[in-house]
Amino acid sequence: MKFLIIGSGGREHAIAWKLSESPQVTEIFISPGNGGTENAEKCTNIPGMNHAELLSFSKEKGIDLTVVGPELPLVEGLTDLFRRNGQNVIGPSKAGSILEGSKVFSKNFMLDNGVKTGYYINFDDYEEAVDFLDECAWPVVIKADGLAAGKGVIICKDVKEAEKALEDIMVKKVFGSAGDWVVIEEYIEGKEVSIIAFIDGRTILPMLSAKDHKQIGDGDTGPNTGGMGVIAPNPWYTSEIEADFTENILKPTLKGIKKADWDFRGIIFFGLMITEVSGIFLLEYNVRMGDPETQALLPLMENDLAEIFQKINSRELKGYSLKFKNKSSCTVVAASGGYPGDYKKGFEISGVENLTQPLFVSGAVKREESLVTNSGRVLSVTAIADTLPEASDLAYREMSKINFKDIYFRTDIGKIEE
Ligand code: GLY
Repeated sequence: MKFLIIGSGGREHAIAWKLSESPQVTEIFISPGNGGTENAEKCTNIPGMNHAELLSFSKEKGIDLTVVGPELPLVEGLTDLFRRNGQNVIGPSKAGSILEGSKVFSKNFMLDNGVKTGYYINFDDYEEAVDFLDECAWPVVIKADGLAAGKGVIICKDVKEAEKALEDIMVKKVFGSAGDWVVIEEYIEGKEVSIIAFIDGRTILPMLSAKDHKQIGDGDTGPNTGGMGVIAPNPWYTSEIEADFTENILKPTLKGIKKADWDFRGIIFFGLMITEVSGIFLLEYNVRMGDPETQALLPLMENDLAEIFQKINSRELKGYSLKFKNKSSCTVVAASGGYPGDYKKGFEISGVENLTQPLFVSGAVKREESLVTNSGRVLSVTAIADTLPEASDLAYREMSKINFKDIYFRTDIGKIEE
């Protein structure tokens, strides 16, 4: 089978790595890929392309299945174009991708379908949104409606911060038209959980739970990033919490997707919070795999990913079972010093040849025979071991083999006592 993967990050490297294990898979093309996928097994990087060019490539090369990594092409309708033209693709339709593309729509979808989530109100009028702040208990969460490169969710601890967020989003339009509407939502405190599920529109199969670490600093301090590390399974996701999730979030979501009659053959990601007294709440949906959750989860999965994608495409997930190693995984991300603020790039990366555990490149390019930093988040190492402390220790032993100028990583992934 020939695969085409669209995307350029660590998630796409991890998908390619897992697909390459499958005896069914002969070739994997990645558009545009990165320095890690360039020479990976069975992999060939191809240039970034627009939708029409991707479709032509898929037809000309006889691609059996295309996997869309990031949200933007999904929200823009790439999968509809492929399916209309007889090309197999993994990812929900443009209509279904609205669950990630519009925070306003997605909160309404949760409410309409009885999905357990926090209280919220949507606004398209700046003055009305500001007036509403008088009624809020603090903190609140303010979300720009549309896609904002992961920066559109702002936690505001008081009215001053909330007024600034509303002004930035709705008046200054720092996220463009993504800020035409906002959601003002209650802040839910607890332990974050990520659940990524495979879905064919009729059947939904969740993977193991994971925990992302979004803040840049140890102990969850400092500004948010794209994700600095992941542990899986998530130690706070007990069987009781899982039952709450299944009954009050997973099942009503699937019911809502069926009712909407979307072509939802792909992935759905649940961003969740476990509270101390009221169980688990849904914060947001994504319509693609999480990054860096994918890098932690796929090395634990025993199934053939190519087989899963085929079953999604032919709507045959029913009766299929996911299998995971009875182990823990710990992914530590290395970033360029200064990230998520200003940082320099172009530094040579050393030591990757000494690793014994999977390396996933997020932002590095190949220059001659070397990898060179090219982004804020540069790479991650995923270690698998019998217990989380062992996985964490191993991940950090592996990370100590890698170096580049100004390398930065958190030192507490998998070590937090809470
Ligand atoms: N790690 C969360 C996300 O991919 O959006």
